[in-house]
Amino acid sequence: MDEMQLYNTYIHKIKTGLQEICLPEEPHNLYEPIHYMLSMKGKHVRPLLTFLAAELFGKEELDDVLPASLAIECFHNFTLIHDDIMDNASLRRGKLPVYKKWNTNIAILSGDVLMVKAYEQLSKCAPAYIPSLLRVFNKIAIEVCEGQQWDMDFEKERSISEESYLQMIRLKTSVLLGGALQMGAILANATDKDVLRINGFGINLGLAFQLQDDILDTYGEKTVLGKRIGGDIVENKKTILLVKLLECISQPDSQKLEYFMTKERDEENKIQQVKNLFAKYNIYEKAVSLKNRFTEIALTELDEIRVPETRKQPLKQIVNNLLNRKS
Ligand code: IPE
Ligand code: IPE
Ligand code: MG
Ligand code: MG
Ligand code: MG
Repeated sequence: MDEMQLYNTYIHKIKTGLQEICLPEEPHNLYEPIHYMLSMKGKHVRPLLTFLAAELFGKEELDDVLPASLAIECFHNFTLIHDDIMDNASLRRGKLPVYKKWNTNIAILSGDVLMVKAYEQLSKCAPAYIPSLLRVFNKIAIEVCEGQQWDMDFEKERSISEESYLQMIRLKTSVLLGGALQMGAILANATDKDVLRINGFGINLGLAFQLQDDILDTYGEKTVLGKRIGGDIVENKKTILLVKLLECISQPDSQKLEYFMTKERDEENKIQQVKNLFAKYNIYEKAVSLKNRFTEIALTELDEIRVPETRKQPLKQIVNNLLNRKS
């Protein structure tokens, strides 16, 4: 099977699996938002990584991998429902976020249930693997929340070092990609060393993935990305773009930036003015070069894994797809 066919097979399994997650009719306002979220057009990157890691380490019975991969996707969707409340987002996957289509209370509660659904899926994995899967899953689930808290705290800070920024995105985003891969590896009986190595690959891939997410938030296309362009600027998010700008901005420009970040009420003007500063200091190029650096590191980590080269091909392809993605 070529790589494209392989992805399609896995993505099909994942989509069908998500649709088959059992959701009662009532209360409508609890279950309808979950159904809405799970049927939207997501990329399903994380559950795909679980499958590809299992395959990398030679797992043949791939149906055993499905519950773990669905657990990861349920957890991811739970974080998105709550993230949109926290970020005041106006668009998610081209549609209204749950908290806007319904309301915040509904988004909190349906998100909570989706998190429990993640555990329900985990409980369907082969019993012998459940303790190790839970160890990985619980650790990353808490780390994602830690990262989300840093993200919120940083909105209020004037400036953040690149190191703090990288630590924040490692927690909010990378650990979940790493965890998705680790769980696939565990299910394929990979050695502890290999589980660590594939996690290293996932962490660096995840850093590059979040850098691209930050870049697209400002430089993407609304209809393709399915999110509001400039939302991070409006919310004073400490994205890689802002972190890089703050490293090199002149005193007078820094005062301008401060003004736009704290006083400008016209959101579109705020976005434009901050973008002008990004352009003046070549921030886009700097962010892309950092993203490429983490991509290289991820590929080096993959090189370290001792399995036949042909088995690595699908993961290498994913690295390429994700890092040049537009959505
Ligand atoms: C969005 O993740 C949240 C981040 C951690 C950047 P994705 O870009 O994978 O979102 P979907 O699931 O494809 O919509
Ligand atoms: C989201 O980061 C990370 C998690 C949901 C845990 P972002 O807030 O940048 O994700 P998007 O851009 O809204 O998808
Ligand atoms: Mg966020
Ligand atoms: Mg967000
Ligand atoms: Mg984002």
